[in-house]
Amino acid sequence: MKLEAGQVAVVTGAANGIGAAVAAALVQRGLRVVLADTDSEALATTATELGNRAIAVPTDVADIEQVRVLADRTLAEFGRVDLVFNNAGMGTGGPSWEIDPGDWDRVWAVNIGGVVNGIHVFTPHLISAGQGHIVNTASLAGLTVGLFGAPYAASKAALISLSESLRGELDLVAPNIGVTVVCPGPVDTRMLRGLTDLATPPEGGATESEELPPEVMAKLAPMMEAVAEMATEMITATRAAEIILDAVESGKLYETTHPDMAVAARERIDTILESFGTTA
Ligand SMILES: NC(=O)c1ccc[n+]([C@@H]2O[C@H](COP(=O)([O-])OP(=O)(O)OC[C@H]3O[C@@H](n4cnc5c(N)ncnc54)[C@H](O)[C@@H]3O)[C@@H](O)[C@H]2O)c1
Repeated sequence: MKLEAGQVAVVTGAANGIGAAVAAALVQRGLRVVLADTDSEALATTATELGNRAIAVPTDVADIEQVRVLADRTLAEFGRVDLVFNNAGMGTGGPSWEIDPGDWDRVWAVNIGGVVNGIHVFTPHLISAGQGHIVNTASLAGLTVGLFGAPYAASKAALISLSESLRGELDLVAPNIGVTVVCPGPVDTRMLRGLTDLATPPEGGATESEELPPEVMAKLAPMMEAVAEMATEMITATRAAEIILDAVESGKLYETTHPDMAVAARERIDTILESFGTTA
């Protein structure tokens, strides 16, 4: 979908990171943007920085009623909606069996439930307008094997699958409506910093991880190396936003910020097919 001045975009998780960068890039192109986030303070600051083409609507995407209010506010303020960026996301860490079921639920409620709510509430508006684009932010973690972050990886895998179903269904009833599922690699945001700071201690400084027993540290070492490696591959949120908007304009279903890192997805599928004995 060609991005044009006057269009209206809803961006969730817009107070910080990739969402804020996407919102800024849209405003720069002359679009009007509705920013949604649970972090009301940062949301208000981001919206103010973006000027009078942006409004803030504090929203928990996991709550369908709040997402309905988000749509009502969007239509009341701007009278139309053209693009929906289901970007809000969160993670939790630990061995799968030790993560509290409540934490599992919350990650699923936000990462999948939030996107389902966005799709449920906004898609009918796009269908009646006969045009529009939905962007769901998954992760390369959804295509590869994620250790000590299973709720996140599993939710992002489900989000890729959900986006593919949505694409197939819209092809039948409203092919003009675009769908993009973005699988970012490491992007320099608060979320990723929380992880990489653990693995890359400041010069001479101690990290939380060094306080763990040595036997646990030894087991975690390969993962910490992988996380430290991620820090070296990080791109800015502004760059990620450019890639995402290009994908919208070129109508791509799948997009990543890090094609080289995505090769792990092929290794995984090869392992699965080999195990099945699939030869063709
Ligand atoms: N940064 C990365 O390296 C990376 C990599 C792959 C995927 N992603 C995905 O990109 C998206 C954006 O993450 P980010 O890196 O910008 O992180 P971030 O923490 O900077 O931003 C995420 C935003 O989502 C908001 N949010 C969380 N729960 C919410 C809820 N229930 N309702 C509304 N808003 C909520 C947060 O308040 C925050 O402002 C997420 O879906 C994340 O999983 C990020």
